[in-house]
Amino acid sequence: MSQTATETRYPFPIPFGWFAVAETPDVEVGQTKAAYYFAQHLVIWRDEEGTAHVQDAFCPHLGAHLGHGGLVDGCNVVCPFHGWKFDGEGCNTHIPYSERTNKKAKVFSYPVLERNGFIYAWYHPHREDPTWEVDEVADLTSGEFYGPKRFTAVVPAGIQEMGENGVDSAHFRYVHNVADVPVITRYEPQGHISIMESSQKFPTPRGVVEGQINSTANGPGVSVVRFAGIIDTLLMTATTPIDEGQTQTRFNFYIRSLGDEATNSSVGEAFSNEVIKQFTEDIPIWVHKAHLSRPALADNDGPFIKYRKWYSQFYAEVPSGEAAAAEERTVFPPPYYPDRMDEVPGKNTASVRHGGSAL
Ligand code: FES
Ligand SMILES: [Fe+2]
Repeated sequence: MSQTATETRYPFPIPFGWFAVAETPDVEVGQTKAAYYFAQHLVIWRDEEGTAHVQDAFCPHLGAHLGHGGLVDGCNVVCPFHGWKFDGEGCNTHIPYSERTNKKAKVFSYPVLERNGFIYAWYHPHREDPTWEVDEVADLTSGEFYGPKRFTAVVPAGIQEMGENGVDSAHFRYVHNVADVPVITRYEPQGHISIMESSQKFPTPRGVVEGQINSTANGPGVSVVRFAGIIDTLLMTATTPIDEGQTQTRFNFYIRSLGDEATNSSVGEAFSNEVIKQFTEDIPIWVHKAHLSRPALADNDGPFIKYRKWYSQFYAEVPSGEAAAAEERTVFPPPYYPDRMDEVPGKNTASVRHGGSAL
């Protein structure tokens, strides 16, 4: 296999879809925040009626960043530089030292959906309108679930690569030390949705427990994962491209209430810690792995090819390099990270298991 010198980390661009850019409690009424996702500087603000807005950060007047010192005035955001005001559609509504507004001064406004505890923005590289909506998860407002426990991390890896982890059944045993390789009982792409069901044995302080994991992806950035077996857990995941090679993951864990508060929090804590531990164990693998255009798979590896095919619908352009590489196994390597040369994954990886210590 030869390694391809690429300008970008991966052969694919940023996918389009709904992505969380913030969580509901983090943007208060009247607040502006600077953000950076989709390789774009953004401003997120909440107007006095409670509606959240996500817009391009730079004021069309002279380029000030609206998220650094911008104020909210009613349903307008006010630029910190010369006081121009823009509404939720990004139209200029006021210039404090002029009688007239400037119709050409328009800020791009992303379509926004706020639900499930997240502010989701629709990203499309050609700024096309949304072609689906993120489903509302009724359980979150039913009163039967306790939470959320929140976790977030920024990982220097691409969003598609990280998502592929879910269909990679063998790594659960070798990287995460689960008692057996999970069995994927269903993997069904349905348009922008994909459904995966698997059963998995979890090590717990009380012994190995058989668990069921059902996950529904709502496009490339949003998944609802339900765990049953140890305790009914609902995990709302949001993965958002910062750029082609970096991703922010947000996990919100909810558990079905077991009656008393102390049990809820101790059982929920133990379980969410296990999932977070697994996520953390994957990070060094993601950071240092290459993307292979044609992986050499075992016959009982998970549905990688189906996953990649489903994912490819979210690219507005044919991924650069991927088409040319389709005929051979092309390696898209990571950059050279001088400060990370000694980094290794956890103690239970395949190499540790096979390289000396007995299985
Ligand atoms: S740069 Fe925003 S008002 Fe001048
Ligand atoms: Fe993993």
